[in-house]
Amino acid sequence: MMKGKFIVFEGIDGSGKTTQLKLLGDQLQQQGLPVLYTREPGGTRIGDAIRGILLNPAHSELVPRAEALLYAAARAQHVAQVVKPALASGTIVLCDRFLDSSLAYQGFGRGMDIGLLESINEPATDGLVPDLTIILSFFTGDGIDRIKRSGRPIDRIEREAGTFHMRVGAGYLTLAQRDPGRYSIINANRSEEWVHNDIMAALEGVLGEISQRNNRA
Ligand code: TYD
Repeated sequence: MMKGKFIVFEGIDGSGKTTQLKLLGDQLQQQGLPVLYTREPGGTRIGDAIRGILLNPAHSELVPRAEALLYAAARAQHVAQVVKPALASGTIVLCDRFLDSSLAYQGFGRGMDIGLLESINEPATDGLVPDLTIILSFFTGDGIDRIKRSGRPIDRIEREAGTFHMRVGAGYLTLAQRDPGRYSIINANRSEEWVHNDIMAALEGVLGEISQRNNRA
């Protein structure tokens, strides 16, 4: 029995996910709710080591299937070691990327079969499905431009062409159409505050239950 809530943020690179995840987490913590921030690939020692392989710009020979399996391996470790235990203890897990990143980047971006990616990821997610996935929808070129302007080094995936990121962005919307009830698509081409307010509104249903439980405790 999962007592917590699993909330995932998705979107192209530079869409502001990490900022929004932090804003949401701060607000929930102010309400006295137990929150855990985590991310993929990473979130564990093993996952961070795999992340190093995946994002190293020197690894240009990495083939899509190996890339997909490495993301899945990091996910398997993360789900088992971090996410499931936190949910079992009643925590709200705010996760920067999950399975849909593999479907969007390796599937729509690299052109791998979505069914194959879902199979590869079955042992990784181990049946875990997010309570809600927030997709931050963002004009593609702007995301990478924003990262470049920030002055931090550009990683192996961010080096991909603009058309790759465009396919990823469109891919997310296609994924959401398959199962609209599990997603909330939010226009991220607006001020941080507006985006945050929309995220809070999208989460009302999911978090209502846990807030009530917390108030009774
Ligand atoms: P990260 O620096 O975390 O990017 P961001 O801050 O934009 O989330 O790097 C993660 C990169 O890995 C990002 O470019 C998306 C990519 N990725 C995949 O291609 N497949 C996956 O399954 C995951 C989780 C991430």
